[in-house]
Amino acid sequence: MTISFEGRVAIVTGAGGGLGRAYALELARRGAKVVVNDLGAQRDGTGASDAAARVVEEIEAAGGEAIANGASVTQEEQVAAMVAEAKAAFGAVHILINNAGILRDKSFAKLEMADFRAVVDVHLIGSANCTHAVWNGMREQNYGRILMTSSSTGLYGNFGQANYAAAKLGLAGFARTLALEGARNNVKVNTIAPTAATRMTEDIFPPELLARFDPDGVAPAALYLVSEDAPTGVILGAGAGVVQAAHITLTRGVALAEPTPEAVAASYAQIADREGEIVPQSGAEQAMTILQRLQGV
Ligand code: NAI
Repeated sequence: MTISFEGRVAIVTGAGGGLGRAYALELARRGAKVVVNDLGAQRDGTGASDAAARVVEEIEAAGGEAIANGASVTQEEQVAAMVAEAKAAFGAVHILINNAGILRDKSFAKLEMADFRAVVDVHLIGSANCTHAVWNGMREQNYGRILMTSSSTGLYGNFGQANYAAAKLGLAGFARTLALEGARNNVKVNTIAPTAATRMTEDIFPPELLARFDPDGVAPAALYLVSEDAPTGVILGAGAGVVQAAHITLTRGVALAEPTPEAVAASYAQIADREGEIVPQSGAEQAMTILQRLQGV
């Protein structure tokens, strides 16, 4: 079955290049009206350019409909104005892809707190600003699809990216809770952990892999996660056309006869044993499984 975005309005943040551009182009190709947001910053978040306008030109040249928006996702008033502009131009907002991002990589020993805050501000607070600005409208219209952009760094760690990791795993937790809160009103919230050769990663990809890791290899997973029949609360990894699912699991665990640190040490292998682990569907399931262990289940 063809996945169409005909009649849908999508905001894609940070869509002036890289992954966001690929998402915006493909959404428009499949019928969506797109707000291409980007302040056109450098990789570290400084500066500005007309990157968004150039992507709008590409969309229009291909016969699609789009408008450019230069809001910084960190500025609540600019974000509110962006959403108002989207509604004025296209009538509603059905899809939000939170994709804007910056890097300030340094080992934690050398990292200034200003660089920690700047990265959390764009990725985590920026995504919260944009989501907050569309959330009640989506609930009221009983339709919303939101995508958060996490990262393998957030899910699994990466040397030199403590600030980015903190923001990126925060987004995955944010999405899981919004998936629960949005369920009653058909607002679905998912997370993508992309891998693509963009200006953000161009210096870490071996040259021979740059072409293979084109952002177009991530776009199918992103579009699926904001489509009509998308699941909700899932985390997909995607790169070069390979799509994976990431889960946050919980092991069966051990009910300690004597709750002491020594008993934790003695049982650690069994505590960490992944046999019978589950993927809780909400935080409450952890307490339920604790009660089960206490009852010897
Ligand atoms: P990119 O640097 O090409 O795209 C990020 C865009 O966000 C830029 O166009 C930039 O101008 C824009 N931006 C930065 N600050 C902004 C702000 N305050 N308001 C609005 N726009 C802003 O890099 P790429 O790779 O396309 O990154 C897209 C997303 O994917 C980011 O969230 C990134 O962290 C994430 N990601 C990328 C990976 C990769 O392998 N390329 C891996 C994991 C995550």
